[in-house]
Order: sequence, then C-alpha cells, then structure tokens
Amino acid sequence: MIRHLLKINDVPRSELGQILLRAKELKDNKIRNNSLEGKTVILIFEKASTRTRVSFDVAVEQLGGHSIFMTPTESQLGRSEPLEDTAYVLSRYADALVVRTFEQQKVRTLAENASIPVINALTDKYHPCQVLSDMLTIYERTPDLENVHVAWVGDGNNMAHSWINAAIYFPIYLTLAFPKGYEPNSDVLARALAMGAKINMSYDPIEAVKGAHYVNTDVFASMGQEKEQEERMKSFLPYQVNEELLAYADPDCKIMHCLPAHRGEEVTADVLDGPRSIIFDQAENRLHMQKAILEWAVNGLEVDLEAVEKLLGPVQVL
Ligand code: CP
Ligand code: NVA
Repeated sequence: MIRHLLKINDVPRSELGQILLRAKELKDNKIRNNSLEGKTVILIFEKASTRTRVSFDVAVEQLGGHSIFMTPTESQLGRSEPLEDTAYVLSRYADALVVRTFEQQKVRTLAENASIPVINALTDKYHPCQVLSDMLTIYERTPDLENVHVAWVGDGNNMAHSWINAAIYFPIYLTLAFPKGYEPNSDVLARALAMGAKINMSYDPIEAVKGAHYVNTDVFASMGQEKEQEERMKSFLPYQVNEELLAYADPDCKIMHCLPAHRGEEVTADVLDGPRSIIFDQAENRLHMQKAILEWAVNGLEVDLEAVEKLLGPVQVL
C-alpha cells in the first residue's frame, strides 16, 4: 500500500502517533541520516511558499536524498498536461511527490495515478503537514494532550479543516470561532464529530478562547482569495486576536500562527511578537515534521505501540 498524506485522516491512528514521536526524536537528537539515500523527492508548487518549500527541501537533504522543485510555469503542468500523465511519468523517476496546489481533487488525482507517495503541502481544503507540525509544537510543551484546549479564531479554511481532522486522532479539546458565512466545511465537521472529536463551535471569539491553552489564527484571505480581502476585512476584524480577547484565555496561553501573518489584521503586533508567541518554534518544527513525514511515506515507520498509546490513548491496530 502506498502511504499518501492528502489529509490527516489518511494516516492510520497508530502511524500518526508514531510520526509525531519520530519528529520529536529527530529534533531532540538532531538526527541527520541516510534514510532517503538514493531517493528523489519532487516538490510541485502551484502557490507561493517559504516555510513548506524550504523545510521539505532541507528535510530531504538532511535525510540524504535529492529534491527537484517544479512550478507550473516552468513545466508542462502549466500547459494543461493531464495530471494523470504527470503522475505516471514522475512515478518512474522519483520516490515521492510533495504537492501544493488549489483544489484537493488535484492531489487526489495525482495520488490515484501515482505509484509513489503523494504528500499534500497545502490545498484550498487542507494543510496537514502544518497542523501535524503544530501538534509537535504543542506536544513539546504539554505532553498530556488530553488536557490541552486549542482555540481556532478566524476563517473556517484549510488550516481549520486540518485542525478539525487532528482532533479526531489527538485527544485535544478544540474550539473554533468564525464569522457567519465563513464556517468550516460541514462534511469535514460531521465526520470528525461522528468519529468522537471533542469540538465546540461558536460565532463568538470570546466563547472559543475561554480558558484556551493555545490560541491559533490565520490570515483573513488565504492564497487565491486576494480579491476578497476588503470584504473579508469587515467580517474578520471582530475576530482579531488581541490582548482584549486574550484576557479570556488561560493566563499562560500560547499564541500560534502558521505564518505568513498580517500584523494589525488577524493578530496585533504586540501579541504576535510578544512573550506568549510561539510562532518561530512552529516554523522550525516544520523541518522536523517534514523529515518524519518523509521517512514514514517513503520507508514506513515501525510503530512503538506503547509509546503511541501513551500519546493518543488506546489504538486499534488493523
Ligand atoms: N505556513 C506555511 O505553510 O508557510 P509557507 O506558505 O511559507 O509555506
Ligand atoms: N490559509 C493560508 C495558510 C498559509 C500557510 C493559505 O492557504 O493561504
């Protein structure tokens, strides 16, 4: 079976836990190895990126592999070559594809036709690598995930969807607040709730942050939504993460943002650059998490069930 990561739910629970533990181990022991020796990873990016692109590139290098970066403008992707053909061809050259694009369907089509793993490096619907890495950032501070309250304030977007999916597997309590009209996808939510995720939602940001240990936000307009910026500004400003709102959160709460951020819009500069902000640890952890994801996708990871169960609670291994 090919190990694709198109969304967090694609990974069996035990392996998801192992990926997190492996990322921590890679970080704590500053591991560089040859697990990708002789392997090639192709990075296809149809949207801009600083962290994801560079952290994947460096991750491949630190695991002894080779990476190739592709964009639509410099490849036949931008000239309408079918994704199916692209998947067949690249599968004959490389060992994994890391793809950032618009529609989730595109990564699905690539995965359906590739004979190598496809890793979602952000689509309009999900950003699984970011949220797995954010889980590492939380786990480093609060290993007892059962008692962690994460609040999401802002758009019901790709990041929110991945947080909702994360709450299915990691025993965190997730609250979300979003303006009317910017709710998360109802199917994503329904599936998570049906699978036992502890999630509460509100249109009131105060409700969402009450007692929260981690307060997360994201840009008002994601990549591809630039034309909506002005209209979104009106709806989202009441959801700004600022000191006034944080007065309702846990006094030791940490501020999270996947970056890039717009200071003065979704979050004030004093909060984002203040002592409770952990944004650069989040950015650093992208590297450690990409290494664990690549090792898992290309080679597979041996699951330490006892350690995983300590992290996630009882795990059923199929
Ligand atoms: N957070 C994140 O994915 O950043 P980039 O867009 O810079 O990759
Ligand atoms: N929601 C943002 C995340 C950027 C990392 C976007 O899709 O642009």
